[in-house]
Amino acid sequence: MNKFGLILMAVVMGAGVQAGESDERMERSRELSQQLQQQLGAKLMAAMKAEGPVHAIDVCHLEAPLIGEQVSTAGEVDVRRTALRYRNPANAPTEQQIAVMEQFAAQLQDAPSQIPETMIKLDNGEQHYMRAIVMQPQCAACHGGSVQEPVLRAIADKYPNDQATGFEVGDLRGAFLVKWMSEE
Ligand code: HEC
Repeated sequence: MNKFGLILMAVVMGAGVQAGESDERMERSRELSQQLQQQLGAKLMAAMKAEGPVHAIDVCHLEAPLIGEQVSTAGEVDVRRTALRYRNPANAPTEQQIAVMEQFAAQLQDAPSQIPETMIKLDNGEQHYMRAIVMQPQCAACHGGSVQEPVLRAIADKYPNDQATGFEVGDLRGAFLVKWMSEE
């Protein structure tokens, strides 16, 4: 392969990914993350437009786990989201996931246009894919630095220990988590 080809390959594979890991399961994991992102994003934005952010909080609360389940396959793969500073305690990360996301945050600072991703192998043989979720302008109504009072109240009602405001566009907001139950 010529030099250009090598550089291109490195760019396509993204930060934190080694050549041997760029296999079918990695590709499938990317697709599953994208499905969750697109389907939840579409529901959320439709709800925001129709009835505003206070109502859209209910939609996110109900739909996020549902869509996660729909995209998952029972017994094979579990698709969800996590974050360093999370809103729903059900999305709390493990120690290992915290370490990965801390690295993602550093990678994003160095190279904001590359979305960090990685596949980690657990001691029990399971493989867990993680992909950074980056804060976007349309997330600010519920995760930004100046969330409006009624929205803050609705969030506090449902999530009394919410940690997921104060983000700026481009920050690491969290990560998709695609858990493969079996060894390959
Ligand atoms: C209408 C308000 C609203 C908007 C807009 C919104 N979110 Fe959220 N977000 C929530 C709520 C509510 C939860 C908790 C969902 C649950 O109960 O599982 C959440 C949870 C999350 C989580 C899971 C981790 C956690 O904190 O529990 C991530 C990651 C996330 N949001 C990212 C985003 C991103 C990225 C955007 C923009 C593309 C966005 N959100 C837009 C309300 C919102």
